[in-house]
Amino acid sequence: MVISSSRSRCGSPGRQPSQDQEHRYRTGAADSYGNHDTEPSGTARELGFRSVEFDAKVPNTARMWNYWLGGKDNFAADREAGDRVIEALPTMPMVAWWARRVLVDVVQRLVTVHGVRQFLDIGSGLPTADNTHEVAQRAAPDARVVYVDHDPVVLSHARALLTSSRDGKTDYLQADLRDTRTIVEGAAQTLDFGQPIAVLLIAVLHFIPDADDPNAVVRRLMDAVPSGSYLVVGHGASDIEPAAAAELNQRYNAMSPTKIRLRSKAEILPFFDGLEMTGRGLVPLSQWFDAEPTDIDTARGLVGHVGIARKP
Ligand SMILES: C[S@@+](CC[C@H](N)C(=O)[O-])C[C@H]1O[C@@H](n2cnc3c(N)ncnc32)[C@H](O)[C@@H]1O
Repeated sequence: MVISSSRSRCGSPGRQPSQDQEHRYRTGAADSYGNHDTEPSGTARELGFRSVEFDAKVPNTARMWNYWLGGKDNFAADREAGDRVIEALPTMPMVAWWARRVLVDVVQRLVTVHGVRQFLDIGSGLPTADNTHEVAQRAAPDARVVYVDHDPVVLSHARALLTSSRDGKTDYLQADLRDTRTIVEGAAQTLDFGQPIAVLLIAVLHFIPDADDPNAVVRRLMDAVPSGSYLVVGHGASDIEPAAAAELNQRYNAMSPTKIRLRSKAEILPFFDGLEMTGRGLVPLSQWFDAEPTDIDTARGLVGHVGIARKP
């Protein structure tokens, strides 16, 4: 089923899910992954972003990630493509698992050390253990979280992302990362853009090709949030195990309609232009937990960089 490039929003007070949608959320069932209410914005279509189409036979980014994380929300095509990537980079499941571990740590740090109470998690992926709102609200029950993903498969599982502590709030938008206006307008119904917001871009910016100017995308998002906000970027690395990374890049793009563009540390650093890096700056995924000694073989296979920066 072809999904139009429209925005879907659920969990907001002003909009009730349809009976069918509510049934799917309640039961976890999905009649077809794209069969949900949409609220056409037109913006994404005008800008020419390709919508994600549900097809169980075509490898899907969110479902492959779910496979590497040991989840069950994937199909044979996702597992086969996932295994082809593992042939190129045997530590791929470890990369996904480690990225989730870092996300949990980042959210905890932002709440407890930096006092952040609002999160905009873009490219949220399928629900898993320790989703952003669960981690944030464990530390600060009044924390608010908006999830964004462009894939209707994630929307079909959104119920798991829409639970909330009594004092906090969570919401979900279906939108493309490049469609920053839709994201900011939609998120503003839940988040207060007058107060600091942490923008989480974990394992998603590498799906934005150079032609779509990912630096400008990040800049537009960070322009929309006030001083004291944070940017978190976790990005697939082309310069850690470069040969395996290049093979991964090539295989991924041969199989998946959503293309990947791994980047080097030097290419990722400009995302933080105008911001103040915190801690040790942009570091390889394996070195995030500075207190922990890292096994060198594991470290070599963790093809990602991660960093947090504060907007002055
Ligand atoms: C590799 S998963 C990462 C999930 C999660 N951030 C994590 O770290 O576990 C990437 C997610 O980004 C989403 N995604 C890819 N390109 C996107 C885009 N242009 N706009 C919004 N979401 C996108 C995919 O649908 C997928 O769910």
